Amino acid sequence: LNRLQRLIAEVIDDTGPLDFAAYMDLALYHPEFGYYAAGKARSDWSGDFVTSPQMDPAFGGLCARAFERVWEACGAPDSFAVVEIGPGEGGFARSVVDAAARSAFGEALQVVLVERIPALEERQRALLDGAPVTWVSSIEAVMPVAAGCLFANEVLDNTPVHLLRKTNGVITELYVIHENGDLRLESGSPSPAIAHEAQALITEVPDGTTFELGVDADRLLETAAGKIDRGVALLFDYGDTSEALRDRQEGTVVCYSARGVDDRPLEDPGTKDITAHVDWTRVSRVFSGIGWQVSEPTPQHSMLRSLGAAGVIDALREAHDRAVERGDGAAALQALSRRGAVSALLDPGGLGGLTVLVATRGVGALSF
Ligand SMILES: C[S@@+](CC[C@H](N)C(=O)[O-])C[C@H]1O[C@@H](n2cnc3c(N)ncnc32)[C@H](O)[C@@H]1O
Repeated sequence: LNRLQRLIAEVIDDTGPLDFAAYMDLALYHPEFGYYAAGKARSDWSGDFVTSPQMDPAFGGLCARAFERVWEACGAPDSFAVVEIGPGEGGFARSVVDAAARSAFGEALQVVLVERIPALEERQRALLDGAPVTWVSSIEAVMPVAAGCLFANEVLDNTPVHLLRKTNGVITELYVIHENGDLRLESGSPSPAIAHEAQALITEVPDGTTFELGVDADRLLETAAGKIDRGVALLFDYGDTSEALRDRQEGTVVCYSARGVDDRPLEDPGTKDITAHVDWTRVSRVFSGIGWQVSEPTPQHSMLRSLGAAGVIDALREAHDRAVERGDGAAALQALSRRGAVSALLDPGGLGGLTVLVATRGVGALSF
């Protein structure tokens, strides 16, 4: 057992089996050994995977166009907040601020970063020195926003989930137990927090299926949405509708690490990312339940194209050609590699295949 496993084993010995959400929370966010909380770079080129904002600033630049439209729909107020949950290395905020610079929208823009991990906040502060950005350590601490946007990229799939299984017509919850010096999963009755919901799913879930319930994400989003009076939420993530997720017999828990992709979340916690697909039907219900209008989830590539991604690629092609003409090899190479990065953001088999959920409140019918 590694150090975090030993620590988790001790918690289980003291307090009993852990539901998977509690386990995932420790594996990712234990202050000292958790995969994210340990403070190493995870989501950029020096980490285990590259997210869209870290792939190329065009991602943030295109989203800034959406934010600007929302700002206009709100009547171009003097102050407009973009609240980002889980900003990682801070690349998104940097590119939004840069894209909005020297515009009336940029004058109004205030970015609020919700960051729980001090080491990440420190790196974000260095990257965003002098930018109109403030930090809070929890969504609860965000001040009410009269007009603004909520944004999160690849955060909801890192939000702890309960793990359940339907076998022979009965739904059980999977708990992490400590036995013979090892951690493993064992079925038990669903915990009180989800028992009612689990029972209600009995007819929806096919027999022999493992599935997740993301109740923590409900709470996070309900609190976040409650902070914004008028505006839009843009949530980018790996996810699908409830119906489609029920067809995945083994569930969607997947781990990413320096060693690659695997489906063994109990092995070597703290050294790997643990993710579960977002249930967009569930997220939509959270937003509509508190008076937001929710659109059908859209693929990232469609959303970025409708915000003008093709124009970005054209501009990079022209920049490349101009650099070649004047014999500036470094600039030509940079434009070429950025074109590749923007194409990766649009690749339906890669980052372009993530889904975007758009929810609006008080801004009429906005489509992107
Ligand atoms: C896969 S990384 C994505 C980082 C960044 N959004 C990006 O796209 O590069 C997920 C991040 O979400 C953060 N996170 C997860 N749940 C959070 C919460 N409830 N509040 C704030 N941050 C959270 C994690 O700490 C981690 O830094």
